[in-house]
Amino acid sequence: MSSKAILPRRPHEGTCGSFSHIWIPTANRNAWFSAISDLAPTEITPSGWQWFQLKACTAAADFLPQEVRLTLREFSRTSSIDTFVLDNLPFVEPGPPPDDRTRPATKPFLHDAVLAGTVGQTLCESFTYKQEDPNLHQEVAPALGQENTASNFSRRSLPWHNDGACFEFELQPYLLAFLGLLNDEDVPTLLLNLDEDILPAISFRLLSELMRPQFIFPVPASLNFGSCEVRVHDRPILFQDRHGVFHVNLPSRDCEQATLEAQEALSEFRELLCGLTARHVVVGPRRLLVFKNTRNLHSRPNVTGKRWFTRTYAAKSLDLHRVATSTSSSEPNSFDARLLLM
Ligand SMILES: [Fe+2]
Repeated sequence: MSSKAILPRRPHEGTCGSFSHIWIPTANRNAWFSAISDLAPTEITPSGWQWFQLKACTAAADFLPQEVRLTLREFSRTSSIDTFVLDNLPFVEPGPPPDDRTRPATKPFLHDAVLAGTVGQTLCESFTYKQEDPNLHQEVAPALGQENTASNFSRRSLPWHNDGACFEFELQPYLLAFLGLLNDEDVPTLLLNLDEDILPAISFRLLSELMRPQFIFPVPASLNFGSCEVRVHDRPILFQDRHGVFHVNLPSRDCEQATLEAQEALSEFRELLCGLTARHVVVGPRRLLVFKNTRNLHSRPNVTGKRWFTRTYAAKSLDLHRVATSTSSSEPNSFDARLLLM
């Protein structure tokens, strides 16, 4: 696959269409680093993390340049930016990566402070699906026994997809944030933007088929529903929200479709995606990648070497999540995926 852009590892910034690249001035970075270098949760409990997140957000607001804060704040509102990369972030060596999806005891909290602080500026709230991982910050690195799964914890390549495609639009992550910790072999995250890359390449006939609520999506194995294969029915792959903005929904693995038309449209769409020119972003140390989950598709090639990033999902509002799962706003933003699917 050809590459649209491999981001340079040097001071650079600018906006190109739906993509924005922001370089944090080193003076700001150093002051921010000093403010969060000793920050840690008062206790490893939900209330301890809530306190930590608040402190992290305050520090990010204090030390990020005002224009950067405005860009992040607009991201969840009227902005036409669908993806941004923040470079030159505070960083310390993270220690050895996990191989069991859990947070290593040796991992410094500084990384979590950077992630929570930055995502907090978007005014979105981090959340998680309980069955996938009860922690708001998830450690994404190849995990033992999951090398060949269709998940972020495997080493095998992942096809084009968005996360949480099996959920209704309002219950999916609005944004995904990947904070780089290790990436020895510079394995890229690949992105295709809906307006700039995907829609212009689709024929009207295929667009019509993909907008029909005729597709069956499997619930991902990472949601851990046990041995039972759960599927959702009658979903469109492309749809417009109430403002007429297009969104895309595509799981990371396909299942057999109910009709020949759906099967053929899905196969044609997959084939078309593989021929498009993707943006390559190497998520590594000092870099954060944030993108709108249903305005982009993402994928990655095989993972070689050590690769580790901390991920969080965030949404503009969690009201529906709380109603669907009978969770109060004082409880952790960790929601039962089964209840969200009902
Ligand atoms: Fe993903």
